[in-house]
Amino acid sequence: MKKLSIGTIGYGFMGRAHSNAFRRVPNFFDLPYRPVLKTICARNPDRARAFAAQWGYESVETDWRLMVASPEIDLIDIASPNDTHAEIAIAAAKAGKMVMCEKPLGRNAAEGEAMVQAVEAAGVPNMVWYNYRRIPAVTLAKDLVAEGRLGRIFHYRAKFLQDWTISAELPQGGEGLWRLDLNVAGSGVTGDLLAHCIDTAMWLNGPIDEVSAVTETFIKQRKHNLTGKVEPVGIDDASLFLARFQNGSLATFEATRYARGHKALYTFEINGEHASIMWDLHDLHRLEYFDHRDEGHLRGWRSLHVTDREHPYMAHWWVPGLQIGYEHSFVHQAADFLAAAAAGESAAPTFRDALATDDVTDAVLASAAQRQWVKVRARQSRARREAI
Ligand SMILES: NC(=O)c1ccc[n+]([C@@H]2O[C@H](COP(=O)([O-])OP(=O)(O)OC[C@H]3O[C@@H](n4cnc5c(N)ncnc54)[C@H](O)[C@@H]3O)[C@@H](O)[C@H]2O)c1
Repeated sequence: MKKLSIGTIGYGFMGRAHSNAFRRVPNFFDLPYRPVLKTICARNPDRARAFAAQWGYESVETDWRLMVASPEIDLIDIASPNDTHAEIAIAAAKAGKMVMCEKPLGRNAAEGEAMVQAVEAAGVPNMVWYNYRRIPAVTLAKDLVAEGRLGRIFHYRAKFLQDWTISAELPQGGEGLWRLDLNVAGSGVTGDLLAHCIDTAMWLNGPIDEVSAVTETFIKQRKHNLTGKVEPVGIDDASLFLARFQNGSLATFEATRYARGHKALYTFEINGEHASIMWDLHDLHRLEYFDHRDEGHLRGWRSLHVTDREHPYMAHWWVPGLQIGYEHSFVHQAADFLAAAAAGESAAPTFRDALATDDVTDAVLASAAQRQWVKVRARQSRARREAI
């Protein structure tokens, strides 16, 4: 089996999630590549060394540029904040490395577009970690839609609710709080939470044509951890939008960090002509399914426990009936990427797929600023551009 040497940037939440995925994946999946945790890159050398010892990285680096230039690294995995994604990904692609990048792709679609151009010009396998696609119940939802079980789709409804920024005493900026700093994050809940909802939605229900949005920043100023001064808050604390998909269906999306009691309540529902589907991150191994074609006296919502061998990814895990969790979505994504990369291919969502989400989040922010409906930028697909 060929080795694939990985250089990971960032040892925070996602650095741990990705490292765990690469460590677990060869135990549960037969793959053409064996991932090797080669180098962890972060700016604090002591903490980087401690992380390397805990997770089994062979070396540490404090400057990502040196890691990107290293001939020992095959794949650059970006698990650092949003303001670092474009520069690192473009440099990595130019150095001929495969690139995996955390979401959102860029802080905006302009950054995302430059990243797409870089990986496509270099022809390197790439992928963005929109991991919710690979929770088995969500993948099953995709299969049910693709099988045509829902029929024509009328409605899509998604929410991502949290409550961790309600205190006005919470500062902005710096470690752990970069999400509140517009320069680093690019936007607030639109790029952070809604981006996930939009990625799943377009995967399940096709492209979004136009949006009408409202955003709010409830706490207007916060102390900035890096300057020590009270500064205006530039991010959106809450973001809600109506959407029309290209297939004619209508949608509502809502994300906030001000829904007291909710920690990470990501839910979506799809209503079709024949059937409906509901999914809830807090109960992630279940898919709720209603089929109007069932016999009348048996008709009702079925709660599918997505743990059987015929369910997506589940044959790789335990025995039917035993659940897996959040971290396994990253293992699945690593498995799919390694399989594709061995064939010189990218895995979905590619940088180009993730750019489509950046296009929608840009449209959402523009719509909220202009207080009117905004068309989502339509791009030609790569295949079509090449055919022309
Ligand atoms: N897929 C998901 O569900 C999901 C969940 C959380 C975060 N994310 C994304 O992952 C990325 C990281 O988020 P997080 O929650 O892990 O953040 P975090 O704050 O927990 O960790 C960020 C890490 O990046 C490091 N870092 C920052 N700048 C760096 C630089 N210039 N060079 C090297 N290291 C640097 C920090 O030291 C830290 O280790 C973000 O883009 C975020 O949007 C995705």
